[in-house]
Amino acid sequence: MIIMQKNKLFQGKTLAILSGGGDTPAINSSIESVRNRASLLGFKVFGVRHGWKGLIGEGDIVDLTNQPYNGWYGGSALRSSRTNPFPSKKNPENRVPQILHNLEKYKIDVLVTIGGDDTNGAAKRLYETEGIPVIGFPKTIDNDLRTRTMHNFNGEDIEAVLCPGFPSAAKAIAEYTAKLKTTAESHSRIIVLEVMGRDAGWLTGSAIFGGAELGLVPEYEITKERKEVFFETVKEAYMQSPKKSLIIPVSEGVRWYNEKEDKVDVVYASSEVDEYGHPRFGGISGVIASDISKRLKIEARAQITGYYARSGICRKYDRRLTTTLADKIVDLLLKEEFGQMPVIKKMVPYEELEEYNAASIDMGQIGNKPLPEQYYNVDKFSFSEAYIDFLSKILKYMRYEDFEYDFPIVIPEDLK
Ligand code: F6P
Repeated sequence: MIIMQKNKLFQGKTLAILSGGGDTPAINSSIESVRNRASLLGFKVFGVRHGWKGLIGEGDIVDLTNQPYNGWYGGSALRSSRTNPFPSKKNPENRVPQILHNLEKYKIDVLVTIGGDDTNGAAKRLYETEGIPVIGFPKTIDNDLRTRTMHNFNGEDIEAVLCPGFPSAAKAIAEYTAKLKTTAESHSRIIVLEVMGRDAGWLTGSAIFGGAELGLVPEYEITKERKEVFFETVKEAYMQSPKKSLIIPVSEGVRWYNEKEDKVDVVYASSEVDEYGHPRFGGISGVIASDISKRLKIEARAQITGYYARSGICRKYDRRLTTTLADKIVDLLLKEEFGQMPVIKKMVPYEELEEYNAASIDMGQIGNKPLPEQYYNVDKFSFSEAYIDFLSKILKYMRYEDFEYDFPIVIPEDLK
């Protein structure tokens, strides 16, 4: 016999979820986990479609309460947008009054915002200036949203970041690199692999787990002088590689010295900016590959991973990470602590992602977090042991097939 539980704690209240910014494979898992826990507490759960855009105009709201949901499916079933509630260069309109109006019209009591620095930054402002009860939920494949997750490496505590979306994207980049290795080897080529990451190189490093070497990140610009040292480093790594091939991951936001213009700059895919003022990057791998070919006379090619990193199913680490963070949201809801975002306190392997390792931080503390200096060897253009230890918590170990061969050279009989 099923006994219906009456008078649940939040009966009659509504919680709405929205996701904004670039999608990741872990958003549906976040939505499902938050929905399930909020439903248990008695909330009716709504989904706001297309990020903040779903709270302007007439509103675009769906009911998630008793609906089937597939949290393993990548992307966001609520869709996404880069709509900014606040006025920006691209859109001077202040949408806050419309948002307040819709929150009231749809009787939304609590808003959970799944996003990176932009979406959660706007949520924080709405909480601070308008008193809207918001709870942030971290999300970005770039992994550059400050979560205050500590990574202990050889006794030193390093402030790392652990954002849902990054683990799945990192796995995708590692797997992609491992595949690419065989074509690079067959042609004795250098492949410059471009990876998403406008401001930070967290994701770029994951190619190392697929057999890549070296790496360039947006945190350290490649000046005229550093470019020369980089070429030398590439040549040495290539010559030392057993099959005369190399995969070099580079972040899309790398700033590279351009001889013609005599300046260090990024490569833009489009001059247009979004409502948060971000331009679109793309194409740096082509520039670097062409410069390597010209300077070192080694065949080099460019490959852009682009949306591959953030497409497809949610991986196990992300699934457990999002459910753990959603467990923490229950705590925040019960204590009615708003303006907070759940985070993981310590970098741990999959099995140790548990609620006791979750905390919440004031959304006032969020912001961009570049790669810690301990994770990158600036002089060697490479990711450090500390970075490899950080990523091994998520990906466990480097996995790529290798076929070691050393066939004897045949010398014609008459030359012997
Ligand atoms: O915000 C995350 C991100 O994946 C960045 O790495 C990338 O620059 C950007 O989104 C691109 O997003 P879109 O092409 O969807 O605007």
